[in-house]
Amino acid sequence: MGTHPTLVQIQPFSVGQRQEGETARPSLAPAPAPANGRTFYLETFGCQMNVHDSEKVAGVLIARGYRPVENYEDADLVLYNTCSIREKAAQKVFSRLGAFRRSGRRPLIGVLGCVAQQEGERFFERAPQVSLVCGSASYAKLPELLDRLEAGERRVTGLSLDTDECFETEITRRDNPFRAYLTIIEGCDKDCAYCVVPMTRGGERSRPSPKVIEECRRLVDAGYTEIQFLGQNVNSYRDPSPARWSFAELLARTAEIPGLKRLRFTTSHPRDFSPDIVQAIESHPVLCDHVHLPVQSGSTRVLERMRRGYSREEYLERIGCIRRSKRAMSISTDMIVGFCGETEEDFEETLSLLDEVQYDQVFSFKYSPRPKTAAGAWADSVPEEEKGRRLAILQERQREIQLRRNQAAVGLEFEVLVEGYQPRLGQAVGRTTSNRLVNFPGEPGWVGQYMTVRVTAAGPNSLVGVRVSGG
Ligand code: 5AD
Ligand code: SF4
Repeated sequence: MGTHPTLVQIQPFSVGQRQEGETARPSLAPAPAPANGRTFYLETFGCQMNVHDSEKVAGVLIARGYRPVENYEDADLVLYNTCSIREKAAQKVFSRLGAFRRSGRRPLIGVLGCVAQQEGERFFERAPQVSLVCGSASYAKLPELLDRLEAGERRVTGLSLDTDECFETEITRRDNPFRAYLTIIEGCDKDCAYCVVPMTRGGERSRPSPKVIEECRRLVDAGYTEIQFLGQNVNSYRDPSPARWSFAELLARTAEIPGLKRLRFTTSHPRDFSPDIVQAIESHPVLCDHVHLPVQSGSTRVLERMRRGYSREEYLERIGCIRRSKRAMSISTDMIVGFCGETEEDFEETLSLLDEVQYDQVFSFKYSPRPKTAAGAWADSVPEEEKGRRLAILQERQREIQLRRNQAAVGLEFEVLVEGYQPRLGQAVGRTTSNRLVNFPGEPGWVGQYMTVRVTAAGPNSLVGVRVSGG
């Protein structure tokens, strides 16, 4: 599994309303229900899956007539969509709830997502002001849970993991006006020793391919030009419809939808990463030339203990398949340092993997023991300070690699989708299909447009350029 921790706050907006410096924000019918006078505030921690779940939760609330507000102090219902991937992430919701206790305000409070699932009913003891505790596998029941809350019930829960349902909503309140997230597979059937996700999100459930295609068509009709397929292990997709498409087929067929300019997918699991995915990318320019393939460690010994289901050599075979493609692709990964029993030699192997693969981006983390996981019961043998030392060395080594790789792009031209504008600097921020960010002098009105830029300078994390054409 793999996801990129972010902290996102759902901002209020009127469906379909234009905001300054933005092109039209696509919106999907049907329109929200008449306002019921109630307001909600929804804050999201964790991965893109959580961000997208929140977009759907917001859709459920808007469909009931709730109105989003920017400030939790103005809300009748305050929701936190939580992450428990590492201890630090899990603590965030408790610090938010502590702030409430001190403020003396008494709105309805709900906790959603991974910490909700992990803590379950215990949440009510730890935080008595909470009225709703619901894990992601029970989101399909949210309307019913909200009915009960609105009818005055004090404590409601949705904690069953035993589901084959996906979370479908009539309205999805998407945050990004250009890139639409779309979950094609929920949950996780893998058994990584360090990972809490199978416990918080339940088993794998894929959406039928005709539904996915239909939703993509609607998104394109609504004005989105980029779609990103999501799944903890997106390439473990198994079409439950009679069509029985493979993941690669789903990618290829979606890429053929007229009007779609970019299709991304994350996160791929190395075990299920088959050559037909590379072939699909090679033959469909709409499929972005970027693969996120979390390795976690460069040492086969550690990978075995992590129960990742592949060795260093097998992982490198997958990388070889991507690198041999006629189409150049960027590759990113996730890595954990200081896993139980990781020796200095193991760590050296992780560093040598960096040198060998030459990743374009690495998300790296110190191992954090999690409750109910296999490794949670093992000795957390690498001291915190040593984890910190290894993380710093790994990040410095990768910084040099990225700087070199980015510098090699100076003088080249790329198509970017302009995703933002920084008024203070007069700079537009665009993203290449290979997922690199390029800053270049621009105008607010360029946001949402595709342009060609020439790279003039490079840092380890982004490029600098000038517009050549487009817009
Ligand atoms: N400790 C540290 N990092 C973790 N990840 C998952 N579980 C843990 C943990 N217990 C990392 C993995 C995963 C990314 C989303 O988070 O690298 O791919
Ligand atoms: Fe996403 Fe939950 Fe995993 Fe956090 S613990 S990264 S929110 S799936």
